[in-house]
This record gives sequence, structure tokens and C-alpha cells, in this order.
Amino acid sequence: MSFFITTPIYYPNGEPHLGHLYTTVCADVVARYHRLCGQQVHFLTGTDEHGIKMVKTAAELKTTPAELATLNANVFRNFFAEFGISNDDFIRTSQERHKSRVQEIVRKLEASGDIYLGAYEGWYDEGQEEFITETEAKDADFKSRISGRPLVRYKEPTYFLKLTKYVDSVYRAIESDQLQVRPASRRNEILSKLKGWDQDLSISRASLSWGIPMPNDPAHVLYVWIDALSNYITAIGYPNHPEEGYDRFWPAHVHLIGKEILWFHAFYWPVMLIALGLPLPKTLFAHGWWTSNGAKMSKSMGNFIGLERLRDVVERFGQDALRFYMLRASPFGNDLDWSDTDFNASYGELGNVLGNLLNRSLNMLQKYREGVIPAAGEAGPEDEALERAIADFPSQLAAAYETLELQRAAQLPLELARAANTYIDQTKPFSLAKDPSKTARLDQVLGLMLRATQVALAGAIPVLPGKAPAGLLQLGIDAKGLTLNQLLAPLSPGHRVGQASVLFPRIEVA
Ligand code: MSP
Repeated sequence: MSFFITTPIYYPNGEPHLGHLYTTVCADVVARYHRLCGQQVHFLTGTDEHGIKMVKTAAELKTTPAELATLNANVFRNFFAEFGISNDDFIRTSQERHKSRVQEIVRKLEASGDIYLGAYEGWYDEGQEEFITETEAKDADFKSRISGRPLVRYKEPTYFLKLTKYVDSVYRAIESDQLQVRPASRRNEILSKLKGWDQDLSISRASLSWGIPMPNDPAHVLYVWIDALSNYITAIGYPNHPEEGYDRFWPAHVHLIGKEILWFHAFYWPVMLIALGLPLPKTLFAHGWWTSNGAKMSKSMGNFIGLERLRDVVERFGQDALRFYMLRASPFGNDLDWSDTDFNASYGELGNVLGNLLNRSLNMLQKYREGVIPAAGEAGPEDEALERAIADFPSQLAAAYETLELQRAAQLPLELARAANTYIDQTKPFSLAKDPSKTARLDQVLGLMLRATQVALAGAIPVLPGKAPAGLLQLGIDAKGLTLNQLLAPLSPGHRVGQASVLFPRIEVA
């Protein structure tokens, strides 16, 4: 079984920040879950380097777009590596492999009669690289609804892609869930925008030279979104080198994106794919936007969560704490707000619930059974609830990942750990240990609490790829190379655990 997941490719016109890291971490968590299940996973990210936005930023910075792109593409790539992202590939749209394949794609679209020459007059949002209809422009007071900057009027000869020829097919694909657009509220927005859509898409610029030349007319460069969307297939070798991954990985299972770029993915991209005769991706998931302390992140407001701030957080709390916080902050798909108070609470939860359980269970097993898992003992009335929670856990986790309920996926192991802590409070192993007639009951309680700890830690690996395996190692389980099923297999009586060491040390909050 193979699994292909992508992030948007990011504009390297500046340094990465919380928003970029968020999408990438979410994709990373999903990728790690599927790898843990033994699937063959391909996880793609990268940078989107062409377009007017790059040209303008480069001019402001008195450099060239190519130099700016290289500088920041390296910053993005290193940043993701530094934050433990497990991407399998990093595509830059300035790479030869991408440019030549995009030209092939455009040739195919020309050959199928889906591109024609015309003239465009209308509004453009240069920050978003987005054409805006007359009505939308008027409604937004001729300003970008993302950046607030004035829209620009374009009037020029251009090649068009026949969106109108495919609008019904795309509508049907989304309505029937052949192409799942999630969350459902966003799917409905897309469907209503598609209804009655009657414009084709301008896909070339004659006034721009930074981009991929139109193969039939090199005086034009291709519209940056056509170039960018293609990355999802050029990176895996389409059209001429399907053995590079296309054969195994297309169609993608998930394109993970921010909500502001859903339209491109839910309309232009399916049109391109249908016109090329290719299958559609299975799911587009549009997540929400981060604000910081209730406001849009901005450097001048002092609430910007950029590279330095993220580094500082990781230095103090560790990567896993940041990942857990990001996932826990909102139901996946909703907007999110960064607050230090929430961050501290979220870190506290890791320590008080998961860390504490691991510590308690290891210490008790060491103290009462010399660190050796006992055979099952005497069942008691408290067991049933925890046994059921353990038994239900793998399928609940699988369902959360299947539907991309990532907040739930992060919380499920904590819920199980909480249930196990409650079980310890109820069964009071420290009292049982004092009563020689309760030896068999103590065996049972120790065994079950260790088992819950094992299952919770195994299920937490995708979200806590550093801390969860470290916890398992304390249990005497080396997680390296093992699948989730193997990690969930009950430990045999006689298995010896290691010593407890604190997973999430208390951190003084300034
Ligand atoms: N280059 C295009 C995408 C092309 S995909 C074929 C682009 N790039 S971007 O650099 O602007 O990155 C956009 C993505 O970054 C968003 O879709 C989202 O995933 C993430 N975020 C950027 N700022 C964000 C927040 N404040 N909050 C959450 N995520 C946001 O658009």
C-alpha cells in the first residue's frame, strides 16, 4: 500500500514562519502515521519560485529573483530539516526537472485543444498571485482580502485555459466525493462558487520574464499557479519518468493546504488533471489560519511567530512539545490562535498525563516486581473500562487519521494515558503491595497499567517522534523499524523494563 501526501510549495520571498511550519508539521504527522502502519509513503514539500511576487520582492531587496529564491529555498529546506520534518523530497520550481516537465504538460494541454490565445482585462492580487473577478474586486473595495494591498489592473494578450469546458466535471467530482474537499463547510463554499462559473483562466504573461516560457510562444511565461500546481506530479516524474514515483504514488491521497488557496486546488488543478486524462487526488484538506494573541501575525505588532521565535520555543520545550501544541490548538480545519498560556498548558498536559503515567508505572514495576512484567493475575471490577479503552484505541486512532481529525489523533494517546492514571488512582497499587493476600491482584494492575502506557506511547509516535520512542525505550521496547501493530503486541510476562527518566521536565515559565 502506498500513500502520497503533499504540502503547498511555499513562496521563498521571505523566511518561513509558524504558518508554513504548521502545514508541514501536520503533513509530517500524517506521513509518519502511515509509515508506522507499514505503508510506502511519499511526502513532498518545496518552494514555488516564479511569479510577480518574487520579482517585486527581489527588486525591493536589490537582488535577483533567482538569488532570492535560492537563498530562501535553502532557508526553508534547512528549517524543515532542523524541525525534524521527514519529507522524502523537496522540489524547487526553478529546477530543470520541474521546468521541462511543466512544458510537456502545457504541450499536452495545447494538443488537447484546451489552451487558446486571447486578451485579458481584469483585476489581479499580486500577493496571492490570483485573478479576482469584477464582483469580488468590488466587494473587497479593490483590495486584496489577504494582504489588504490594492488590486492591480491587468490588460494584456494572454493564453487561456478552458476552465468552462470542465467546470461541470469538477463540480460533479466534488459533489460525489470522488474528490473529497474537506472540511465540509469549505466543500460547500467551493460548490457554490463553481455553480454558474463562466470564465476561462489567463495562464500566461507577456510582460514577465521570470517564469517558465510557454513552449509554443516563449515571449510569454506561464502563470505561476499552473507552474506551481504541476509540482505535485512533476516531482514524481510525470510525464516521462513515471518510474520516479508517479507509477506508485499518483493519485495523491492528500493535498494539505491553507484555506486561502483551496480554490486553486479545487478548481484549476482538477481541470488540468481531467484535461490531461489523469486521476484526481483523493482529498484536499484546507486547514485554518493562525493568528497570534488574537491578531494577524505582524512584525510591527510584535506578535510575529517567525523562525527565531520558533527556534527559541524548541530550545526550551523541544520539538515534540511544539508539534503537540500545534495539533491540539484547534479541531483540524478551524482557525488557531497562538498564546503562551495555551502553550504552557499543553506542555503541562504532556508531562502531567503521559510523562507521569510512564514514570509511575515504571517506578511501581521496579519497586514491586523488580522491573519484570508479571503474568496476568486476578481480574477486578476496575479493569474493564481500561481494557476496553486499550482495545478500542488502535481503531479510533486509525479513524482519526483516516478523516484527518488531527487534533483528535494527538489527543487520543493522552486520553488513554488519563484513563490509565485514573485506573491507578482507583486500584491503589501502593496499598495492594502492603497486603500479601493481594499479590495476584497487584500483578494484574501492574500488567494492565504497563500495557496502557505502552499502547499510548506507541500511538503517540507520529505526533511525538522523539519523546514517544524514548518512552518506549524506557519500557524496554526499541521502536526503531517496528510497525504500529508490532509495537502494540502485548509484552510477554518476564519482559524486563528499564529505569524511568523524566520525559517532559518541568520548565520554569518566564
Ligand atoms: N506558493 C503558494 C502555494 C502553491 S501550492 C501549489 C503559496 N505559498 S505561501 O508561501 O503563501 O504559503 C501558503 C501556505 O502557508 C498556506 O496555504 C498555509 O498552508 C501556510 N500558511 C501561511 N500563513 C499561514 C497562517 N498564518 N496560518 C496557517 N497557515 C498559513 O500560497
